[in-house]
Amino acid sequence: MKAERGGIYRSRLRKPLEKEAALYLSSLKEDAEIFEEDVLGTEAHVVMLFEQGIISRKDAGKILEALESLKAEWREGRVKLEPEKFEDVHELVEAYILSRIGVEVGGKTHTGRSRNDQVALDIRLRLRRSLLEIWRSLLSLAYSLAGRADQEKETLMVLYTHTQHAQVGFLSHYLLAYLDHLLRDLERIEACYGRVNRCPLGASALAGSTLPLNRPRTAELLGFEGLAENSLDAVSSRDFMLEAAASCAILMVHLSRMAEDLVLWSSSEFGYVEFPDELASPSSIMPQKRNPCLLELARAKAGRVCGLLSALLLSLKGVPTGYSRDLQETKPVLWEILGLTLSTVRVMDRVVEGLKFNRNRMVEVAFQSYAPAVDLAEALVKHAGLSLREAHRLVGETIRLAVKKGVRLNEAQDLLEEASTRILGVKVSLPRRIYERFTSPQRIPAERLTLGSPNPKETRRMLKDRKAMLREARLKLESRIKALQKAEGKLRREISKLKPR
Ligand code: ARG
Repeated sequence: MKAERGGIYRSRLRKPLEKEAALYLSSLKEDAEIFEEDVLGTEAHVVMLFEQGIISRKDAGKILEALESLKAEWREGRVKLEPEKFEDVHELVEAYILSRIGVEVGGKTHTGRSRNDQVALDIRLRLRRSLLEIWRSLLSLAYSLAGRADQEKETLMVLYTHTQHAQVGFLSHYLLAYLDHLLRDLERIEACYGRVNRCPLGASALAGSTLPLNRPRTAELLGFEGLAENSLDAVSSRDFMLEAAASCAILMVHLSRMAEDLVLWSSSEFGYVEFPDELASPSSIMPQKRNPCLLELARAKAGRVCGLLSALLLSLKGVPTGYSRDLQETKPVLWEILGLTLSTVRVMDRVVEGLKFNRNRMVEVAFQSYAPAVDLAEALVKHAGLSLREAHRLVGETIRLAVKKGVRLNEAQDLLEEASTRILGVKVSLPRRIYERFTSPQRIPAERLTLGSPNPKETRRMLKDRKAMLREARLKLESRIKALQKAEGKLRREISKLKPR
């Protein structure tokens, strides 16, 4: 493609841009990410210009034909991105049209439009697509978690605070906890999608146009749910990007914490999980290794996404209202965030699907643990009339003695009785079967009475409830995708009506 010397916009500037300045200025390379969006947005704009009587049917048809061949060349990999020639994809696309059908007709393409509303449009179109991809992959990961939780409904394990034994529960409780994290991530993405899915086109440079543009029509042809109405807001705001980036960062932090747990659990010391060969990494020297490198990378990439989010926030905080070129610099940051998030969600889905849980090891640890301590203290409250603080003291002392003697909590009833006379001045004794119920790890979850606890009944209820939420999230995703397909179909029909015969 031939570029006009100095570029198509430089009508009042006598000299072409210096090469080094051009390379610094151009966003063409990163605009590869919005190439097709730019063509799509231009098609809808041209259809609307014709419908409004701003350009003729014949001219619209010619421009649309040029756009079609540009798209074909792009898809065949025949479009070279040369930043020294074009400031951005918008200039490249228009220059292509001009070179193909001449300035008299091609020069009408940009009527009533500015690169300011154009780029805001392209970012929203592209972000919309990425959010749907992330939504779909996240849903798949959430389904995998629900599936694994279903398999591990009553796999006993110790749950941790401070990385120390805290209370016994089920592995499903852990998995369902992360499912709840991810369901909220899905809600955030859905809410964010609604605000991204507003059309800025027709805002022009920032204060609208004197031409009778039909903004709701271009919005409709592009499948938007409405307008980014105020023209100054439409070109100036980037909070829709920040929101998407923040939603990604929060999601990545969740995945990172989960990754950290699994790294720990895969150590020989824990031995709770094993990576299948196809997901484990070897060592160049230590033949015994099966390293959890995927998870370590997920952790690091989460850090990078958080850094990129702050890069976005910082590049926006001082930009004066309207358009300034600073805004260009936010695009590659967003593309990187979206790419890192999508790939991490996908990898975590594979990990969750493929992990082997070592149930015997989890149960063994639970049996050796003093984690039933809280349950025993509560049994003393319920069945021996002690205050929680008295019970806490008594159980603490009992455990101290039990550790010294090397016995487990369910073998320590005599120690508890002995300690009670010393500490509380009375002998506290629980019926044997009560003591058993509240100190045998496998029996404890059923004793938990509170909503949201790992009581087996609660576990089944939550699982069923969350599966229903997943089905709903899937339906919502499908309806968004259908709406876009419907709009795309409508736009294609309008374009084919205008094709030159
Ligand atoms: N390449 C620019 C960007 O990415 C397009 C908008 C340029 N607008 C302008 N007034 N210079 O933001």
